[in-house]
Amino acid sequence: MASTPTSNRGTWNTKIGFILAAAGSAVGLGNIWGFPTQVADNGGAAFILIYLLCCLIVGFPVMVAEFTIGRRTQKNPVGAFKALSNGNPLAALIGYWGVLCGLMILSFYVVISGWTLAYVFEELLFFIGYESLAETIGDLGNGPKNAIFTLAFMVLTVLIVTGGVSQGIERATKALMPILLAILVVLIIYIFTLDGATDGLRMYVSPDFSTVSGGLVLSALGQAFFSLSLGMGALITYGSYLNKKQNIVESAAYVTIFDVGIAIIAGLLVIPAMFVAQAAGVQIFNPETGDLFSSVTLVFDVLPEMFHNVGGIIGMLLGVTFFILLGLAALTSSISLLEVPVSYVIDEHNVRRKKAAWMVGGIVGVIGVIVSFELGLIDLFVFIFNEIGLPLGGLMICIFLGYFWKTENALLEMKDGFDNIDNTAFGPVWTFFVKFVSPLLIALVLASMVWGLFGG
Ligand code: PHE
Repeated sequence: MASTPTSNRGTWNTKIGFILAAAGSAVGLGNIWGFPTQVADNGGAAFILIYLLCCLIVGFPVMVAEFTIGRRTQKNPVGAFKALSNGNPLAALIGYWGVLCGLMILSFYVVISGWTLAYVFEELLFFIGYESLAETIGDLGNGPKNAIFTLAFMVLTVLIVTGGVSQGIERATKALMPILLAILVVLIIYIFTLDGATDGLRMYVSPDFSTVSGGLVLSALGQAFFSLSLGMGALITYGSYLNKKQNIVESAAYVTIFDVGIAIIAGLLVIPAMFVAQAAGVQIFNPETGDLFSSVTLVFDVLPEMFHNVGGIIGMLLGVTFFILLGLAALTSSISLLEVPVSYVIDEHNVRRKKAAWMVGGIVGVIGVIVSFELGLIDLFVFIFNEIGLPLGGLMICIFLGYFWKTENALLEMKDGFDNIDNTAFGPVWTFFVKFVSPLLIALVLASMVWGLFGG
């Protein structure tokens, strides 16, 4: 087998460092923005239940699969599938697809992340009385302004990735994740002192099962893949820097629980905040359709208006910390999106890390600038690379692992760090999910999507 680990690839320094890095990848815009707005849109707690199921029966098994493939091969996704299939080009395609998804998802992710950065300044400028400048910086349709903030965010991401695995990614996420958690908790406590927050809480915890439909399962599964960073090899790449002592199954459980937990906690902030805005007279429902405004409007119009209503230094602090929270969460995810193509270039083309990071970052930066001017591309990219791309990647990973590399081999790899795995039910249960349940569910969801696309 061509999987001799190269010693200079870098490894995680500590167990907790790896878990936080993977959790940092998972916790991002998908949790703090995507999840709460999807819950509000899709029948409150009914969506949460289906989402939890998707994470448990598809997300967790696929995450274990990705970590295992990564640690077994110690390679980027392309190299990993090549190594496990003795160079079969068809298998390598799974890896190439992941690298492409990483590049394209990052190209719109940095634009949205750039908005969060811009809104930190918007809130500050509004506070010190520069209202028209604040308006310019807060204008999402301003292409040149978007491009500047997109590139600034991209440079930040590249700078962390050039630092390498333990000195760059691990160090940054270890410092940033506790800050993120602290900000989240403080904001929630404050939001609940404001009028209207409990109405939001009521909507959040009461399920409306009349909204449950095929479409909702589709959204929940797509959201699970995106939020858990699955399907494109980000966690294969992070797994490739793991040593043999770490328990993969336990780590995957921590990361899943952490990610789902933060999404649920973020809902306790964002949904009540929307209703606080409403109580203060801000529209949150479209008066024509009766539907909730789009997630972009909610996060970048409704919430800032609420912060301005609160006013004074408290309003400013609320706004600034909220957008810093969103930006930090985005940053620890964008570094993992960049790390996938970067590790591919390093491993497969023998390029030094620094050069690889700036090169790939440059390409993403150029696409990001185009997206900054043509915002319609975001929806298109989300559809192709996130809603279809990630579940498709997950499906191919399950099929490859279940039927070609074989789950017995994967379980053998998991034994390192989980000595008594054979005395638990994990092996057979996981095998059943990876071979049958997860691929079937993903295939059904993808088929219904294609069906819908052709007007079925
Ligand atoms: N999980 C990240 C989020 O929730 C996005 C992401 C997707 C990161 C895929 C890496 C890979 O925002």
